[in-house]
Amino acid sequence: MKAFDFSVPTRVFFGNGELRRLQEIAPTTGRRAMLLAAKHTMKQTGILDRAVELLKKGGVDVVVSDNVDPNPKDVDIDRQTGVFLTNKCDFAIGLGGGSSMDSAKAVAFLAAQGGGTILDYLAGGPHATLEGTKPAFPIICVTTTAGTGSETTPWWVITNTKWHEKPGTGNDSTMARYAIVDPELMVSVPQEVTRSTGIDVLFHAMEAFIANVATPFTDLFAREAVTLVVANLGKVLENGRDLEARGRMAWANSIAGIAIGEGKSSTVAIHALGHSIGGQTDAPHGLTMAAVGPAYMAKTWDADIVRYAEVTRLLGYAKPGLSDQELAQRSPEALAAVLEKFGCRVRMRDLGVKEEMLGAMTDSAFKTMSGCLNCSLKPLSRADVVQMYKDSL
Ligand SMILES: [Fe+2]
Repeated sequence: MKAFDFSVPTRVFFGNGELRRLQEIAPTTGRRAMLLAAKHTMKQTGILDRAVELLKKGGVDVVVSDNVDPNPKDVDIDRQTGVFLTNKCDFAIGLGGGSSMDSAKAVAFLAAQGGGTILDYLAGGPHATLEGTKPAFPIICVTTTAGTGSETTPWWVITNTKWHEKPGTGNDSTMARYAIVDPELMVSVPQEVTRSTGIDVLFHAMEAFIANVATPFTDLFAREAVTLVVANLGKVLENGRDLEARGRMAWANSIAGIAIGEGKSSTVAIHALGHSIGGQTDAPHGLTMAAVGPAYMAKTWDADIVRYAEVTRLLGYAKPGLSDQELAQRSPEALAAVLEKFGCRVRMRDLGVKEEMLGAMTDSAFKTMSGCLNCSLKPLSRADVVQMYKDSL
């Protein structure tokens, strides 16, 4: 067995009603919080007011920024960091989906550097490696969607508006100190958001399983998360108030996050290609991977027959009597069928991609997400990436 290490430093409170924990954990984290929440939805659902009340009951002052957009932008982070510093906040709370949690992480990080612009710390910036930077202020993540897994990963993704890129970054200090995963907060998530975030969970888990840095630790979570999504995403799409299925999707999300965040495992080129689509078009994150996933599987299935055969089994498309070779070869079809089943079978043009964007998207994939590209079991050239994009257009 090869050597590996693992660590799960975030204390996660999981279960229906666990939002209430905010009252006890926030005061142990600091005296004044900046709470970053998704625009409109957290207010409309009453979740924002409940969170603020719990913080106040816990004796914590709170500065609220409830205008986080899906796909947060560098300019937003710079502005919100100014608010954090002006108000002398001690920690950041992300309340919402990946956008809110990633904003909280980015603000906690940039504030610790004394402000400035987050662009300096993203791919292409002078401090892109994050080496020598100060540790972020403490972070609490309260996730209200089953997608991104941000509550259990160090990663945060911010759109670079200057170069139309969507780089991901992070270090140990941008792991949440606490995470709250309360399925009751997810029952009001609209169907289209449930779909695109749920499919993101599937990709986190599947990509972690076929990454060249997968370990027995990450396999454990990746396998279970794929199985849970295949069994439960349809249920929550059909009935968003199915709390049991919401809980299973929430669990799949958090453990897929562990698979891509904790064990030095990662997503592979599917996320690299998807992020570059998102940088150009602002399309929902999950759908960008749905657009390129089958082409990636077709390009790479023969890199590890045993693993790709297992993917076909986990996706529920194994037929009795087929060899591993045949199962692996069918993995692109199996993925396409699962995407079809969940209403996510899209092409890049459906997301607004035009042929003339492919060059910039390819450059961006290598520039901003090379870590994920390098995790692929099959080494990928620029020509391979262009081909996958063309096959997915
Ligand atoms: Fe993702």
